[in-house]
Amino acid sequence: MTSKEIREAFLSFFKSKSHQIVPSAPVVVKNDPTLMFTNAGMNQFKEFFLGEAQSKFSRIADTQRCLRVSGKHNDLEEVGIDTYHHTLFEMLGNWSFGDYFKKEAISWAWELLTEVYKLDKDRLYVTIFEGDEKEGLAKDEEAAGFWKALIAEDRILLGNKKDNFWEMGEMGPCGPCSEIHYDMRGDVERAALSGHTLVNADHPQVIEIWNLVFMQFNRLKSGKLEALPARHIDTGMGFERLVRAIQGKTSNYDTDVFQPTIRFIAERSGIAYGADEKTDIAMRVLSDHIRAVSFAIADGQLPSNNKAGYVIRRILRRAVRYAYTFLGFKSPFINELVPLLAQQFEGVFDELIQQQSFVQKVVLEEEVSFLRTLTTGIQRFENYASEHRNIAGDFAFELFDTYGFPIDLTELLSREKGLQVDMLGFQQALQEQKERSRAATTIDTGDWVLVQDEDESVFVGYDYLEANTQIVKYRKVTAKGKEQFQLVLSVTPFYAEGGGQIGDSGLLISEVGERVSITTTKKENGLTVHFVDQLPPVLVGDFKAIVDKQKRIDTENNHSATHLLHAALKQVLGEHVNQKGSLVNADILRFDVSHFAKISYEELKQVEDIVNAKIRENILLKEERMVPFQQAIDSGVTALFGEKYGDYVRVITFDDSFSKELCGGTHVKATGQIGFFKITSESAVAAGVRRIEAITGTQAYAVIREQFELVNKMKELLSSPKDFVSSLAKLIEENSELKKEIEQNIREKSLALINDLSSKFETINGVNFLAVQVDLPSGDAVKTLAYALKGAMEDVFLVLGADFEGKPSLTVAISDSLAKERGYNAGAIVKDLAKDIQGGGGGQPFFATAGGKLSVGLGKAIARAKDFVI
Ligand code: ALA
Repeated sequence: MTSKEIREAFLSFFKSKSHQIVPSAPVVVKNDPTLMFTNAGMNQFKEFFLGEAQSKFSRIADTQRCLRVSGKHNDLEEVGIDTYHHTLFEMLGNWSFGDYFKKEAISWAWELLTEVYKLDKDRLYVTIFEGDEKEGLAKDEEAAGFWKALIAEDRILLGNKKDNFWEMGEMGPCGPCSEIHYDMRGDVERAALSGHTLVNADHPQVIEIWNLVFMQFNRLKSGKLEALPARHIDTGMGFERLVRAIQGKTSNYDTDVFQPTIRFIAERSGIAYGADEKTDIAMRVLSDHIRAVSFAIADGQLPSNNKAGYVIRRILRRAVRYAYTFLGFKSPFINELVPLLAQQFEGVFDELIQQQSFVQKVVLEEEVSFLRTLTTGIQRFENYASEHRNIAGDFAFELFDTYGFPIDLTELLSREKGLQVDMLGFQQALQEQKERSRAATTIDTGDWVLVQDEDESVFVGYDYLEANTQIVKYRKVTAKGKEQFQLVLSVTPFYAEGGGQIGDSGLLISEVGERVSITTTKKENGLTVHFVDQLPPVLVGDFKAIVDKQKRIDTENNHSATHLLHAALKQVLGEHVNQKGSLVNADILRFDVSHFAKISYEELKQVEDIVNAKIRENILLKEERMVPFQQAIDSGVTALFGEKYGDYVRVITFDDSFSKELCGGTHVKATGQIGFFKITSESAVAAGVRRIEAITGTQAYAVIREQFELVNKMKELLSSPKDFVSSLAKLIEENSELKKEIEQNIREKSLALINDLSSKFETINGVNFLAVQVDLPSGDAVKTLAYALKGAMEDVFLVLGADFEGKPSLTVAISDSLAKERGYNAGAIVKDLAKDIQGGGGGQPFFATAGGKLSVGLGKAIARAKDFVI
């Protein structure tokens, strides 16, 4: 079977068992503070397990793209070194939400593996949870019982909490699990040593392929396990491992999932796969990492310097570095793998092929910039290595931190020069940095405290800005030393931050009139969470929740304008323009789009014209709340990449033939309310992504008025000319003419002074001495004069005083030979003389200047100058 057939067989098997097949969620997670990337198929269903929302289907199956590169599940360092871990992998999964449980999950898994895929029963082992006394959990006899009906008893092994109790993260849904392992060793090896002992022992040929989790608990912050409202099934099968088992390969990379990429890399590098362990690892790293990087970008996460963006940047850099060091790619290459992948995933995850050129461009730019850093870093290393006998830990850390050098690159470079790296010192510096960043980002979230057992978070904010409500639960959150509380309300008119639109703020008022401010509102999985600085004195009882109306209106203006902008951009720039990010608040709207060139001023004007025309048309909002997803897509709505949509979606339309978007945000009732739209800036955010900032309504009005007043003031200053611009241009021209004239005047004056002053020198002790106050307007003019006089004769000792509109200055110029022979130092002399003008200064032995505050002291200073030559 090809990998494609294997995937299809999984989905059709579960379809035949009444499962709804759903699309993969994006690999980048939004709305979950505990998770950056999808790390398991069940993530998108977390709220169903926790009972925060109800799934429309009780049985679901899919293939989910997952990334295990941060947090609790992190395999990054293994990837490429071994042959069965990946950054991005597909997790085949089937789920039951309160429907079937262990019996069906176990027997269907067995049926699929042995009857459909025809895996060898003699190579399969299963594990069950042995129980854990500390957690108060018993051995999973039930699962063992179901397995006994299918597989020889000696193939059912016990596993501990680490291997057989699955948890999504530090907190969240969890439960005992039963894993299925496959022994892929050769017959001789298998005869010599039974696979029993190798299960869960990191043997590269005896590996877990499927995990069946029996979801029963929620792990609380306190560490306690709380029973879930219902029991569920969550399974996850590693697609790449399954393919390897079915195709009988000894490495995931030998299957048709990775071979096309590896062949391409081998061809382009001129190195055969299998030739050498080091180059093999590098090829595995490249063929793996490009998948993670490409899908993260396609799902909306650009490489950047923080959080999820930084994780992606690091993965890509790891690949670049392997390509550079081991495969000899000194110029960008990895981006060329993108089209190959896009084709491979066509029909499975179409997000990539639809954005192929965008993704490739982003990868290319990252490669270019990292290769530049790498070159600078290597230069830095060379310099250091030529001056030191060994590589200090601190320096290795600097290379790592500033130039993105993983430690093995530094080791490699050092070895080539016969130098040692202080690994202990490096580890220490790394550890210190980790602790610093942990301390800076730790958010301490308490467990929810139930106030009353009510329905949660019924959102009425599309229709109302006020609602009668009750507090369902609350919890304390401490971030950066600041304490806050979060509230979940039974009914809420507050819009939770999402789709780029900021969360509402407002008030919560109790029956007796006690008020607390809601500072913002955010979404967490299915819950709407309200942030308050303090809790209401009494939590039980009725409250009124009131949204800040003006802020909401201003925000809506910006949000609806964003939709108009998006549509206008597609008209002006072309259909390739995709939304890559958006921020909508009461003050501005910010919109990022994929587009490869700067958006010209002419194009921006066209866009502005279209949007403002649509505003003046006063188009009525068409809001449809429960449109089946496919129906919405078929009607031509703009859906966004990287967004997870439910079965039913909300469609926001402003003129059927103009703007139609899937959107959960709040909008104006008719476009006229937006008032006016003005673009304020256009810039680049990343390779292939442009950012537009704009203002609307009240803000735009205020800015226009301000600009108007500014121009009026300027006109007034110019005595209200008919043609303001040409008057201003004329003024500027006149000004520069005048400047030229003044400079000419000064030059003439200086020349006259040269003639005049040359005759005033007196000879004292063989020195041509002159100290005098001159009438010149600037330091530059005095300097020119001083140099001219100094150049006109030998052995000059010259002191010039000048007063620039109340700012006295002194200049001392001494012929170079004189300064040398007699040890005169103009710098020291000017410092001394400057005391008389209450100032200071300095310079070189032959020329120095000083400025001061006391103009009347100039005479005294000039008189004192002679003391230095007598
Ligand atoms: N959620 C389970 C896992 O990721 C199936 O292993």
